[in-house]
Formats: sequence, C-alpha cells, structure tokens
Amino acid sequence: MFQENLLNGSHILVTGGGSGLGYSMTRGFLALGAEVTIWGRRRAVLDEAAATLADETGGRIHTDAVDIRDPDAIEAAVDRIWAHKPLTGLVNNAAGNFIAPTESLSPRAFNAIASIVFHGTFMVTNACARRWLDAGDRASVVSILTTWVWTGSPFVVPSAMSKAGLDAMTKSLAVEWGPRGLRFNAIAPGPFPTKGAWDRLMPDTGEDLDQKSRDAIPMKRYGEHSELANLAAFLLADQVAYINGQTIAIDGGQHLNNAGSFAHLWDVTPDQWEQMRAAIETANKR
Ligand code: HXC
Repeated sequence: MFQENLLNGSHILVTGGGSGLGYSMTRGFLALGAEVTIWGRRRAVLDEAAATLADETGGRIHTDAVDIRDPDAIEAAVDRIWAHKPLTGLVNNAAGNFIAPTESLSPRAFNAIASIVFHGTFMVTNACARRWLDAGDRASVVSILTTWVWTGSPFVVPSAMSKAGLDAMTKSLAVEWGPRGLRFNAIAPGPFPTKGAWDRLMPDTGEDLDQKSRDAIPMKRYGEHSELANLAAFLLADQVAYINGQTIAIDGGQHLNNAGSFAHLWDVTPDQWEQMRAAIETANKR
C-alpha cells in the first residue's frame, strides 16, 4: 500500500523488536527501505530475528541486547547507535504484562510491569530526544499502547496505569518538543495475537474462550500484524509530518463495542425488530 522507498534514509529503533509485534513492525520498516536497530533482553532471539529478516527483506538491521529497565544500559546503547548513525525514528514497543487480581500484586509484581512500560519507555525516549534536540534533528516517535489508556482495564492494572502514563507522555512531548522538530504519536492496538501476550493474557484458554473474545470485536476477528506495521510506518513517514500528539486505535472497533446503551441489540431478530417498531409507533400515537 506504500511506495517501496517510503522509509529510505531513515534509521528506526524498535524496542522489543526481536519477537511479536515488534518483529512484525521491523519487517514492515525494512521492506520499506528503513535501516532498523532492534533491542531486546535476549541476544539469541535478536540475532535469529535479524538473520531471518535480513534474509527475507534484504534490509539493514542491527541488534543490541538492552534491558530498558536499566538507565545506564540505555545510555550506553544509545551512544552506540549514534556512533553508527543517528536515529530518525523510535518505536517504543517493549512491554511486559500478565493478568492477575490486583489485590494479589506485590510491590515487585507492580514494578515488574511499571519498570519496563512506564519508566523504561520514558528513559529510552528521553535518551534519544536529548541527542535529537542537541543536534537540532527532526525525528518521529511512535509508542505502542493499548486501548486501555481510554477505558482502563481490570486485572492488568499496572499495565493500564503505565500505558496511560505513556499516553500522557505522548501528548505532553508533542507540545513541548514539537516546535523543535520532534513529533510524538501512539498506537493503541486491540488484540493482535502474539506468543508473548497470549501466554500471559489468555493462558490455557480453549477455542471456546478464544471465539468469545473474537465475537466481542465488531470486525469479528483479531488484528493482522501487517495492519499494525502499516499504521506504524504511516506515522513514522515524513509525508504525514503534521500528525502530532495523537493516539490512534487499531482494534476493529473493540473498545467502542460496549459504548452507549444498545450494543446488546445485535441479537435482536427481524421479527423482534418488527414488534419493537410497532410498539414505538403505538407509543408515538398516544
Ligand atoms: C501475580 C506475578 C505474576 C502473575 C509475576 N508475578 N507473574 N504475580 N501473577 N502472573 C510477580 C512475581 O511473583 C514477583 O513478585 C514479581 O512479579 C516479579 O516476577 P518475575 O518473574 O521476577 O518477573 P520478571 O522476570 O521481571 O518478568 C515479568 C515480565 C515477564 C517482564 C512481565 O512476564 C516477561 O518477560 N514478559 C515478556 C513480555 C510480555 O509480557 N509481553 C506481553 C506484553 S502484552 P514477588 O513479590 O513474588 O517477588 C502487553 C499488552 C497486550 O503489554 C495488549 C493485548 C490487548
């Protein structure tokens, strides 16, 4: 759907790029001509991903094993990137999550999520931004959030709180650093199956629960990874440089499904609609 050289000349960092959605976005960016650096905690996973993607796309891809919970590791790794080639884009994708009743969470459990999603994402963003601001470079940041930033979500409260914080970061920095050439947007995906997320968010769910989950989405299906990669490439591209400070849902309409008072009317039969229409007409005549 894009011209093949859409991202030519760009250098994009994808945190958590060795697996899941980060991997799929990396593939999309490489196919559009970007040079991509991927970070993750496991070097073997990164190296295997890079080898496969370089083979598949012929693109230039670099890896670095970085735990974004560690500010010193972030600084050192960002220095290594800049020594090679400054970034033009950052995709904040690395995250952690698991479902649990909130009252069961220990301080360490809360921090297991917040230290990656909330603290880590901010520190990566700030480390890159300082270098862009010093050099007067233009750049685009896209953060992968969830639709819970608008609705909240039970049973994943540390994630919902942390991602909502990043939504605030996106809007705040779009205004603070927009005048200096940096733009900040975010994507709020609904369910896009990945092993990492499904193992922790839908553990041991049979086909029945999986079907129920799909039925609750207006489009009646999960998202395709390529659809998310397309949106991320779109937001990174210079051709849409006027988009700044937005969080865009890509969820088949899922987060709106229970909005209003009438979402349950899907099950009404044609006969019942006729009866209701007759009842309304009777009421109108009274
Ligand atoms: C309750 C739990 C728990 C659980 C861990 N803890 N799992 N508590 N229920 N299921 C507690 C532990 O008991 C411990 O506290 C503390 O959390 C830290 O546990 P560790 O095992 O040491 O955690 P850690 O090694 O830091 O790993 C946590 C993690 C891990 C980083 C989140 O699960 C992970 O590596 N995840 C991979 C990435 C991931 O999760 N991807 C999915 C993202 S999906 P105590 O007090 O006992 O020591 C996403 C959005 C999806 O973000 C949107 C879908 C619509």
